[in-house]
Amino acid sequence: MRIYKAKDYKEMSRIGANILSSQIILKPQSVLGLATGSTPLGIYELLIERCKGGDIDFSQAASINLDEYKGLDGSHSQSYRYFMQNNLFSSININLENTHVPNGLADDDSKECRRYDKIIDDCGGIDIQLLGLGHNGHIGFNEPGTDFPKGTHLVALAESTIKANKRFFADEKDVPRFAYTMGIKSIMKARHILIAVSGIDKADIVKIAFWGPVSPEVPASVLQLHNNVTLIADEAALSKVD
Ligand code: GLP
Repeated sequence: MRIYKAKDYKEMSRIGANILSSQIILKPQSVLGLATGSTPLGIYELLIERCKGGDIDFSQAASINLDEYKGLDGSHSQSYRYFMQNNLFSSININLENTHVPNGLADDDSKECRRYDKIIDDCGGIDIQLLGLGHNGHIGFNEPGTDFPKGTHLVALAESTIKANKRFFADEKDVPRFAYTMGIKSIMKARHILIAVSGIDKADIVKIAFWGPVSPEVPASVLQLHNNVTLIADEAALSKVD
């Protein structure tokens, strides 16, 4: 694992944007695995700036997002499709037909999961997968206890995830209880994994996930077994690591 220690969120975002920019520059038809949450927002802002400035070009790229809430339409303001439209896709020159997010309104769960796994395979696999880290060690929506060999699947969200995400909804009862997520198997197949972590509230889980034992109880710990992982964390997130 390659580790970049950034001074703060701003520097973490700059390093993340640099790595993703170089990926696009070196391989314009890259398949980018993308994430939602607060962590990647700074990275996305910089990618938008650089695309508008003509330094990077997404016209040949494709994107595959990690997850989506079950039950939310892509036009719902809390859906992950909407998040991506709003925070990235609408401001860069990516072809929307090449952007993929699970369909939150699919009526057949296993069919939707198979469709999503096929998209990943048909694209030739993910070149670089951007990840955030949940407070309980989840990646995507792979909650503690998830089997490592899973592809895309439907998950029941952990109580702690529902609580962490209620800040985006009018009321906790509005937070969807289920989501589609790429599985650990799909994530581990990415050729390069870029995980970004910021803030003192993530310090304990950073230490447990990357310096503790590999265990399904801490889904992100599996990344220790991948041969091309880059962790970018700020000083606060690394403050519990010796
Ligand atoms: C959510 C998402 C994850 C994300 C995580 C951390 O539940 N499904 O993909 O990485 O939470 O979010 P944040 O970056 O806001 O801390």
